[in-house]
Amino acid sequence: MSVHKNEKDNFSGQLGFVLAAAGSAVGVGNLWRFPYFAAKDGGGLFLLIYFFLVIVFGTVLLASDIAIGRRTGKSSIFAYTAIAPRWKFLGIVTFMVPVIIMCYYSVIGGWILKYTAVYLTGGGSAAAGDGYFISFISSNIETVVFALVFLFLTSFIVFSGIKKGIERYSKILMPILLLLIIFIASFSLTLSYTDSSGATRTGIDGLKIYLTPDFSGLTFERFLQISLDAMGQVFFSLSVSMGIMITYGSYVKKNVNLNKSVYHIQFFDTVVALLAGSMIIPAIYVFCGLDGMNAGPGLMFISLPKVFEAMGAFGSVIAIVFFVSAAFAALTSCVSVLESIVANFLDLFKNVKLQFLRNLSRKKIVLITSFIYAAATVTVALGYSVFYFELELPNGSKGQLIDVLDYISNNFMMPFISVLSCILIGWIIRPKWIIEEMEYPGYRCHFARMYTVVIRYIAPVVMLILFVQSTGIV
Ligand code: PHE
Repeated sequence: MSVHKNEKDNFSGQLGFVLAAAGSAVGVGNLWRFPYFAAKDGGGLFLLIYFFLVIVFGTVLLASDIAIGRRTGKSSIFAYTAIAPRWKFLGIVTFMVPVIIMCYYSVIGGWILKYTAVYLTGGGSAAAGDGYFISFISSNIETVVFALVFLFLTSFIVFSGIKKGIERYSKILMPILLLLIIFIASFSLTLSYTDSSGATRTGIDGLKIYLTPDFSGLTFERFLQISLDAMGQVFFSLSVSMGIMITYGSYVKKNVNLNKSVYHIQFFDTVVALLAGSMIIPAIYVFCGLDGMNAGPGLMFISLPKVFEAMGAFGSVIAIVFFVSAAFAALTSCVSVLESIVANFLDLFKNVKLQFLRNLSRKKIVLITSFIYAAATVTVALGYSVFYFELELPNGSKGQLIDVLDYISNNFMMPFISVLSCILIGWIIRPKWIIEEMEYPGYRCHFARMYTVVIRYIAPVVMLILFVQSTGIV
């Protein structure tokens, strides 16, 4: 037998890798967070700034993670250790991000499943009622059950392996997701509604508001605020600086063109975000007017059900399509979070003295990790009932358990990790180390020069500003 027992399970090729990575990148960040910021931050103005940042910083951060993963063949902890033994701590901090995110991601996934179930069983009108969402998330049994179902689905895919699990399901779910979103976005543009004051608003008007840059009252401060929002969104949306793309990169075969992969992942992620904006913003504008946009985090579970209700009979169909797409998007993202935890454990246990840990198979590690996360998920799911508390976050908003975990991982740790990894790559191992991997085995990295300038001089400063801002000191 020529197959070595421990031979790594890899992605089969470029397409499998790109779709799996896009599966990680495309998630609730695209469907809910992106439209919410676009509405808040001046429509087209936010879009312009976002595109610029994705092209410059997104490319640099994504390429760095993927190249580190492929070149070392390891997950975050051991990847950073392999690059520079003294930087092991950075690997550990990076590993902590998915560890934290995994505690709450299934809870949000569970909310999406619940809404899918509600619309499938014809309960849409109730979901549009005031207080429905709040009473659901503070119900203890229901939130726990849906969150555990979501965790089970995630674990099942990770348990099935890289090629037969992650790649296989991404190849099915991602194209369907894209079609569903194109369908709703087109439908949104055909909407029209006349409210009680006799004013008629159409989907096309809404699209114009979404796409036209709004420069009114633009000060330097506001410009900076929008840029910071957009930068945070780039991080979150591309799943960078949390070790996930390092893990996925470690499963990419040496003959795959990493440059093309980076472009394709970014393109997929950005197109889905743009489409999500063109499905949500016009729909909310038509039925709720401009004020409806300020719903913030409640957009997906509070405002949208009202919009579906106002659409009439067809609304429930659209709602089902929407929540099914959201469930797919969240599932492939959650899979990537769990996978990177499992991959780190696998690497970790290979290096310990305890015999029984060294002998644990990947499947057993998935099972054990899932059990531990079942406990964490139950705890977080009860964060609006049994474990309810309110804590003021450095950005001034009041948060519950999920918000606090989210703030620590996304606002605080990710910029911190980025600053350090830019210093490590830019000044210690040198950008060439990454570019060599991007160009292996003979491709050309067209952004090599930009990469070098950004990673050495620009990114560390920008990330430092983001980090300091997240601490709330300024
Ligand atoms: N990138 C995902 C999104 O856009 C979110 C995500 C965050 C996924 C962290 C995995 C880990 O929604």
